[in-house]
Amino acid sequence: MDGLSRRKMLIVSGGALGALGALGTSAWAWSPSGSVAGAGAGADPRWVWDPEADPVVASILDRGLVGEVNRLLRTWTRNDQPLPAGLPEDLRAFMEQARRLPAWADQAKLDRAADFVTTKGTYLILLYGLGGGMLSCAIPNEARAVYYSKGGADLKDRAAKTGKLGYDLQEPNAYRPDGRMIVTAVKTRLVHAAVRHLLPQSPHWPKDGGQIPISQNDMLVTWHTLPTYVMRKLTEWRVRIGSAESAAFLHIWQVTAHMLGIKDEYIPASWDAADAQSKQVLDPVLATTREGVDLADKILTISAKGITPDGSTRPLVNSLARHIVGDRVAGMAAIPREFLLDPLVGTGFPVWVALRENLIPLPLVPQITRTIDDAIRKYILFYLSGGRQINIEIPDMNRPS
Ligand code: HEM
Repeated sequence: MDGLSRRKMLIVSGGALGALGALGTSAWAWSPSGSVAGAGAGADPRWVWDPEADPVVASILDRGLVGEVNRLLRTWTRNDQPLPAGLPEDLRAFMEQARRLPAWADQAKLDRAADFVTTKGTYLILLYGLGGGMLSCAIPNEARAVYYSKGGADLKDRAAKTGKLGYDLQEPNAYRPDGRMIVTAVKTRLVHAAVRHLLPQSPHWPKDGGQIPISQNDMLVTWHTLPTYVMRKLTEWRVRIGSAESAAFLHIWQVTAHMLGIKDEYIPASWDAADAQSKQVLDPVLATTREGVDLADKILTISAKGITPDGSTRPLVNSLARHIVGDRVAGMAAIPREFLLDPLVGTGFPVWVALRENLIPLPLVPQITRTIDDAIRKYILFYLSGGRQINIEIPDMNRPS
């Protein structure tokens, strides 16, 4: 039975209602009037996946074509580049549709977002990497999906591939013809579709009512760990952001959500709508899992080794990560407590922000802030160094062990 039929069965057999009860969660109550579409059927996104991509990619996997498709797609890197010759016809047709920007994409806003992303780049990378990275470990559905999929076996490689999306989004021409973000988003959409087909076949995936992974709801949950969370933290840190910049930053992420296959009726139209949806979908699902704890430990080690190859900055990375995500999420991800450093970072980090925002003069900067600044600079360099030459590839199997 292919992925689509299995999914249909789950829905038709009343699996949706049964599982809703089993999840103990309430019905979907976020109104599509708050979305970029402004209207919609209001279907619960826990039971919607990616009906355009999923059957095509499942069929590519079943026909044993993934190796060849990946080989061809390695040459497809720029937004304006024609798709490579030789792709299977169904995949080519899907990708031609998927690479189109939505009619509501506004290039002037995307350009303004590029300015914002350039000036606030350091905060963004820190918040995507350590903030979003740790949060994703406290999202059980995501932690399990990442752990048991192919990339779970080589987290350094996986982190670099995920970093590529942040890197391409950070480029001033992200969605312009010579940019790379359309390519990266469409490839990621293919990867997610493959994971939906492959993971339910993993021996580690729950057999009794185990949900097909990466639903539209899961996508929204993760999306909120990125722009919504970033904006909340920047506001909390009192980073100055103009209203046009803030709207532009939301816009580039709305476009990205669309390009990743999130339906327009679920994409928040405003920050208020995003905050409301985040409270509904993200806050209640945060929890600890064995898989999330393991992933968090590996991500923190990779980050520390990116700063100092011997990994000696791991305690500082622990403290920074705890400071960024707070004690609750740090506890869920089992970030070790650093009894000496945690209070120091607690006072030194706000000074680092104030310094960057030109709110305090240099002589008043304590040593811990200089240490934080040095570590963050190296972290950003490490993060960016992975960006350009990495290929996002469709997986052909789950985690082997
Ligand atoms: C792969 C980004 C949501 C699970 C990827 C990749 C990127 C990415 C860039 C390609 C990197 C690679 O091949 O390793 C995103 C973004 C999301 C999102 C921006 C939301 C806005 C999710 C969610 C889940 C998930 C909700 C699970 C619940 C995975 C898995 C892979 C993957 C399992 C494949 C790893 C492999 O190849 O084995 N994602 N993702 N992602 N993502 Fe996502």
